[in-house]
Amino acid sequence: MAETDADVVLRAPSEKDGARIHQLIQACPPLDVNSLYAYLLLTTHFSQTSLVAEQQGRIVGFVSAYIPPSKSDVLFVWQVAVHEQCRGQALGIRMLKRLLRRASLARIQYVETTVSPDNPASRAMFARVAEHYSTDLNEEAWFGAEHFGPQQHAEEPLLRIGPLPTRAAI
Ligand SMILES: CC(C)(COP(=O)(O)OP(=O)(O)OC[C@H]1O[C@@H](n2cnc3c(N)ncnc32)[C@H](O)[C@@H]1OP(=O)(O)O)[C@@H](O)C(=O)NCCC(=O)NCCS
Repeated sequence: MAETDADVVLRAPSEKDGARIHQLIQACPPLDVNSLYAYLLLTTHFSQTSLVAEQQGRIVGFVSAYIPPSKSDVLFVWQVAVHEQCRGQALGIRMLKRLLRRASLARIQYVETTVSPDNPASRAMFARVAEHYSTDLNEEAWFGAEHFGPQQHAEEPLLRIGPLPTRAAI
């Protein structure tokens, strides 16, 4: 069910949102722009673990995430995007908190993500999430620059936040 924060509706995405999400990601460097087809899969197969923020019919925020097959208590957050005009209003952190409050994600105890060292906004947002839940944030090496082959891509270390409080406290 969709929930509203002021005039921004936070809800699970559907395939009708795929093209608009693709456009939002294009407008949100330094995010990697995946294929439109990849966003269609995220809005369907992974809609229970993903979220869009809609304001007056416009998609202004998106979180893609999934539960890794071998880690049933982890929510791996792939991309978080907030439209430039909506930044600095806690929308990023609100989307993550709302996602973690879903009944279907009650068993999640850890949030994992990767954040390149040169993305202060993303780092600050995930640090704020850990602070909000009064829990730990640990970092370890994961995807090094060498894993991206000839692409000039910064390393993507793994951030792990948790354990999260029991669902009642979220
Ligand atoms: C990262 C992003 C999603 C943050 O969205 P946002 O809605 O502006 O973030 P919030 O307002 O929820 O901020 C959360 C915290 O991060 C901090 N923060 C946000 N942007 C920041 C920046 N550019 N520099 C430093 N800190 C920043 C905020 O101050 C806030 O901390 P506070 O509560 O202690 O003040 C947004 O900047 C974005 O879409 N960037 C481009 C795409 C990207 O890099 N995504 C992340 C990679 S997955």
